[in-house]
Amino acid sequence: MKLLTGLSLLPCHEPKSVYKCIACEKTYSLDRLLYTCPECKSLLRIVDENFSALKARSGKEWRQVFDLRRSLDVAGLRGIFLFHELILPHIPLEDVIFLGEGHTPLIRANGELCEWLGADFHVKNDGQNPSASFKDRGMASAISFLNNYIKRNKPDTVLGICASTGDTSAAAALYLSYLPKSAVKSVVLLPKGKVTPQQLGQPLGSGATVVEIPGVFDDCMKIVEQLAEKYDVFLLNSKNPVRITGQKSFAFEVAQQSGWKTSGLTVAVPIGNAGNVTAIMEGFLDLENLGIIDGLPVILGVQSHHANPVARWRDTGEYHPMTVSPSVAQAAMIGNPVSFPKVRGLVEKYFKEKFTAVTVTEQEIMDSMLLSNRHGHVVCTQGGEAIAGLKRALAEGKVSRNGRFVCDSTSHQLKFAGFQQDYFEGKLVEGFGVESKPELVNKPVGMEADAGSIAAKLGLKPRK
Ligand SMILES: Cc1ncc(COP(=O)(O)O)c(C=O)c1O
Ligand SMILES: [Zn+2]
Repeated sequence: MKLLTGLSLLPCHEPKSVYKCIACEKTYSLDRLLYTCPECKSLLRIVDENFSALKARSGKEWRQVFDLRRSLDVAGLRGIFLFHELILPHIPLEDVIFLGEGHTPLIRANGELCEWLGADFHVKNDGQNPSASFKDRGMASAISFLNNYIKRNKPDTVLGICASTGDTSAAAALYLSYLPKSAVKSVVLLPKGKVTPQQLGQPLGSGATVVEIPGVFDDCMKIVEQLAEKYDVFLLNSKNPVRITGQKSFAFEVAQQSGWKTSGLTVAVPIGNAGNVTAIMEGFLDLENLGIIDGLPVILGVQSHHANPVARWRDTGEYHPMTVSPSVAQAAMIGNPVSFPKVRGLVEKYFKEKFTAVTVTEQEIMDSMLLSNRHGHVVCTQGGEAIAGLKRALAEGKVSRNGRFVCDSTSHQLKFAGFQQDYFEGKLVEGFGVESKPELVNKPVGMEADAGSIAAKLGLKPRK
């Protein structure tokens, strides 16, 4: 398959992909399942030591290749693997697992909502992924990696495991359930009572073993880290760099959907464990490195005042893990983000002033979510957090009004319908400190099954 210009659409790059420690810079073969550096215990990245060979093509040529692949929909080269050379290029196309993830729509925000926010903006609906969150991007890369690893290494049954605030477990269980039952088993650890019923139902439905423990996500993460340290398991948290690498596709898609013009763009991202924001920054850096985009966008990290260690670090220069309080942005309710060292490194080395962060209140998160959804959107509480964050950053002058804006709505409204219901019933005052604004409350109206009385209630006038 060749473009008119003679460019091959099929991958012809020869990668030298390795794990690379972000601290001591030692490298390790991808033939091992590693999550931290065996030497110094720091986080790992996936690095293609032959990345510079990709520069044999110009930025313009890469844009042509990616744009044409988008229109052709070739197996193995769609979804996140449209950007095969930038994700896990060592995986043959036949080992790629595609369950419909990626290519999520970039929706122009409703005009009245833009007026309320103070600028025109777009919402990228990552809730329109198969398990209804952005986590599917990282699971597609991690499970494709595992699929290829199993074929090459023929291990005994692999146990895929993760700690979760709800969405990671839904995505992990879904993708693992697609592989042969003889090859993989799936286990998820959840903080009891701290995921929504919809999120709990997802891994159960996919057949995973669901372990509930007391505490919050950070407690689950500690246990999973111990298991990954001592036992042969495949860790599916974003600490595993094969997951982060797939989540770079969010940045690739935003760039593609913005006509590859990302300078002057601000991307608002809700931050929890900081895997997503890390991946998005790494993705834009890849594109800049290859001359595919015209400059780095501003990344705006958003956190709730009940869980904001990264925003505090950005404001004060000091990082302190914190004990979280209940947050309606429950999926991002994390006091000690595992990927914080990566964020710090990426900001200090590359993004500098192009990374900013804001803290929003629980009230702002709920109001922004409900108002957005009253204007044609389907954002979750974390999406509401991103939108609230953009509004606040504009008001505080942290980002300039003269620009273009994208808010990452990381999952689907329906996963968090319980918070909407609690708001309508005035149940978020305690714990969350959220008052229900009457103009945002909506309740069903019970009536007799009688057209006349329903018409009267609706104020309808008979047709003349
Ligand atoms: C819906 C949703 N939004 C945001 C986040 C935060 O992403 P990260 O933990 O990668 O910072 C999560 C993570 O669990 C999530 O599920
Ligand atoms: Zn190291």
